[in-house]
Amino acid sequence: MKIAVMSDIHGNHVAFESCLDFLKEKEVDGYIFLGDYVGEFPYTEKTMELIYDLKRKYSCYIIRGNKEDYQLSGLGKDNSKWDDYPSTVGMLRYAAKHTREKDLQFFASLPITMRVEIPGLPPLRICHGSPRNVKEDIRKGCSVNQEIFAEVSEEYIICGHTHRVTDMNEYEKTVWNPGSVGVSLDGSAKAQLMILHGENEKWKPEFLAVAYDTDKVIGEMKDERLFELAPCWSRVSESLLRGGTVSHGRVLWRAMELCEKEMGECNWPMIPERYWEQACEEMLQNL
Ligand SMILES: [Fe+2]
Repeated sequence: MKIAVMSDIHGNHVAFESCLDFLKEKEVDGYIFLGDYVGEFPYTEKTMELIYDLKRKYSCYIIRGNKEDYQLSGLGKDNSKWDDYPSTVGMLRYAAKHTREKDLQFFASLPITMRVEIPGLPPLRICHGSPRNVKEDIRKGCSVNQEIFAEVSEEYIICGHTHRVTDMNEYEKTVWNPGSVGVSLDGSAKAQLMILHGENEKWKPEFLAVAYDTDKVIGEMKDERLFELAPCWSRVSESLLRGGTVSHGRVLWRAMELCEKEMGECNWPMIPERYWEQACEEMLQNL
């Protein structure tokens, strides 16, 4: 039994297509998708169509991530109060324009966690962040892990969201995170995925990374004017595609810190562009 596990595609259909090409020879029996299908990259519809196609042809276990929640809650809808904050809301708005009614219905139909039962193998608990919260990280050595795991009956927890490949064993749970298909943070600029091998009543993970045409993605970002719609956010995306390791979350955090220092408070998404620019200048060395 072989199951491909992919998470955090973030609309990077080029990376996703390369993973699917790579998997053709692996003859997997099914797919697990851990959420965040939309996000940072152009032509969101292409990612969604690939998922619908796989769902028609194979056993697929699909849950939703925080990026799907953002679209369901309308964060990307036009709201003139936010027009001055393109680096914060630009990609949410782009994704909203490319998320069709059928995609929203699909997102709404997805659970945030699921038990995957395959005869003869231990059940898996799959989730995006943690089983109880799409935005909660599971990281090695965190004190909150004990509390999170106490609510889970399965031995194996398969999660995404952190974009960090993880293989850990704590409090009698085994946690595997395949990393991110579309936005890897390890400096490799490769698409990360995992194949779970089920043999002799046990699961074994195989962590993989697939090279893809990152220049094509940057070209599509330019074609779709993402550097105008979400200037600094897209600079972070480009930096990662060029082998950088600084995440959007870290730059956002720094921009908010700078904003708070000067203005006394900073309320997301109202982060003036000058703070985003300053954070990018400080943190992105490879552009
Ligand atoms: Fe996420």
